[in-house]
Amino acid sequence: MNFLGTVITSNYPPGPTTSNFSFVVTNNEPIPVRKGQFVQINTEDGLLLGMVQEILKTNRFYSHAEYVKEYERGGQPLTSIFPCDRWDMLIANAKPLGVFTNGTFDKVSFPPSPGEKVYIADDEVLINLLGLDVENGLNLGNLRFHEVPVSLNMTKLLQKHLAILAMSGSGKSYLASVIIEELLSRKAESGRVAVVIIDVHGEYSSLANKSDKDNQFDLSDKVVVVKSPFVQFATPLISNRWFGTFQPEMSPIQIRELGRIVGEMRRAYRGKSYSLTDLLNHIESDAKIPQRTKEALLGWLYALEDTKLFGTEEAPDLENLVKPGHAVILDLSETTSLKKKQLIVTYIASRLFALRRRGKIPPFTMILEEAHQFCPQARQELAISQGIVEQLAREGRKFYASLCLISQRPVRLSTTVLSQANTHIILRISNPNDLDTIKASSEMITPDTVGMISGLPVGEALIVGSAVNYPIFVKIRQRFTKESAYEANLEKAAKTYEEYSPPTESK
Ligand SMILES: Nc1ncnc2c1ncn2[C@@H]1O[C@H](COP(=O)(O)OP(=O)(O)OP(=O)(O)O)[C@@H](O)[C@H]1O
Ligand SMILES: [Mg+2]
Repeated sequence: MNFLGTVITSNYPPGPTTSNFSFVVTNNEPIPVRKGQFVQINTEDGLLLGMVQEILKTNRFYSHAEYVKEYERGGQPLTSIFPCDRWDMLIANAKPLGVFTNGTFDKVSFPPSPGEKVYIADDEVLINLLGLDVENGLNLGNLRFHEVPVSLNMTKLLQKHLAILAMSGSGKSYLASVIIEELLSRKAESGRVAVVIIDVHGEYSSLANKSDKDNQFDLSDKVVVVKSPFVQFATPLISNRWFGTFQPEMSPIQIRELGRIVGEMRRAYRGKSYSLTDLLNHIESDAKIPQRTKEALLGWLYALEDTKLFGTEEAPDLENLVKPGHAVILDLSETTSLKKKQLIVTYIASRLFALRRRGKIPPFTMILEEAHQFCPQARQELAISQGIVEQLAREGRKFYASLCLISQRPVRLSTTVLSQANTHIILRISNPNDLDTIKASSEMITPDTVGMISGLPVGEALIVGSAVNYPIFVKIRQRFTKESAYEANLEKAAKTYEEYSPPTESK
C-alpha cells in the first residue's frame, strides 16, 4: 500500500549516491508523493531512510512547444490523438538520511541500488529516526505528510534552550501555549518543570481561565497571572552591583560607596525588611560620602524609586509560586516603558536563577516573549536585562534553568543567546534579513529549507536542532485550552467595541 516506485540511475544530479537518489513513481494515486515526505528502501546495508527533496513531472509528448502548438492549432487536444497520459512520468529525488541496522541509525555509507523499491516510511521507523519520545514527550502536532505525532523529549527540547522564531501573526504565542499545555499536563512521575512566562502583550492570561466547554482543558488551578503593577522587588535582596545593573551609567566609585551603604543597611536592619526610601534616607544622612558621589547616587536611586518597582517584600512570591507543573504568567501589558519591562525581566530572571542554584525552586523554563527587546544584538541598544539573559543562556543548562526565547525579529536578537538555543522552531518568516539569520544559525538548514520557511502557512513550523535528529516540518496541533481574546478577528473586535462602548455625541 505504501509502495511508491523504483530507484533509477539519473544523470542530473548523478545518482544513486550516498547523498542523493532518484526514483520513478509507479504508484497510480493522483498525488502519490510529496516534497518533504520520508521514504524507505530495503538495501543490503539495512533499511535506508530518505527525504524527498524535489519531484519532477515529465511527459515527452509535451517536450516540444512547436509540436504541441501545431497539433492543438486545429482545436484538437493532443490527448485525442496520442496516449499522452500513459507517458506522464513522476520522478522524485530524495536525500538519504540514515540506515537502520541492528536497532540503531547510522550515517549512510553505501548508496541504494537502481531497481530497489521505494516505500513511504513506516511510522515506527520514523519515530526512531527522528528520536521522538512518544510515551513521555511533549506533543506539538503532527509530522507533515505522515500520521506521526511529533512528541518531543522534554530534555532534548528544553534543557539546552529553545527559540521560537517567526514573523508577527504566524503562530509563535499559539505554539508556546501548546508547549505550556503539554508541560502543565505532565504527570509527576514523568518529571515536571515549572513554567514562568514573561508575557509582554498579555496573550497568555487565557490559560488561567476556567473552561466554558466540556471538551476544553482546564488548567486554571495550575496557572497564576500577576500583572506588572503588582510586581515588587525586595530591596534588601538587591546588592550594590545589582543596582549598578539597573542603572548602567553608575560609576565604579558610586557602586563601591553604595556597597558600603547597603552593607550598613543590612547590618542595621538585621534580617528585617527595608525599602528603597529607607536606603535613600540613609544615604542622605551619611556624612562619609563625598558630596558629588552622594548627589549622583541619590539621583540614580530616586530615578529607580520613581518606577515604583522597589518594595520591601518580593511580589510575586517566587519561592512559593514557582512549582512543578505550574505556571506563573507575568503580564507586562500594562507597562509601556521598555526600561521598566527590562527592569522586571532582570529582577525576575536573576531571582529565578539564584533560587534555582540554591535548589529553592524546581527546574524551570522561562518563556521570554519579544526576546529581542530584552537581549538585543546591537550593542548601542544594550538592554539592562542583557547580562542575565545571556548568563541563563550560557549557564542555565547545568542548573536545569532553561529559556524559551520568542522573537519576531531574529536579526535583532543577540547571536550569543540565539546560538545557545539548541532547538529552533521556525514558523513563517519572509523578511530576507531574518531569513539570513536563520540560515546562519544552523548548519542543518539548507537553502532549499530556507525557501520553504517563507511559504509556510500559519501554524506550520520547521523544527531543527537537538530536539529532533533531522529537521522536520510540523503542523502544530490545536490548543486544548481556550484561546486568548486577542485571537478574535477584526470584525468581532469592532462589534464588541460598539456593543459595550457608549455612543459618542454626533457633532
Ligand atoms: N497551530 C495553529 N492552529 C490554529 N490556529 C493557529 C495556529 N497557530 C496560530 N493560529 C492562529 O493564528 C493567529 C496568530 O497566532 P499568534 O498570536 O500565535 O501569532 P504570533 O506569532 O504570536 O504573533 P505576534 O508576533 O504578533 O505576537 C491566532 O489568531 C491563532 O488563532
Ligand atoms: Mg505573539
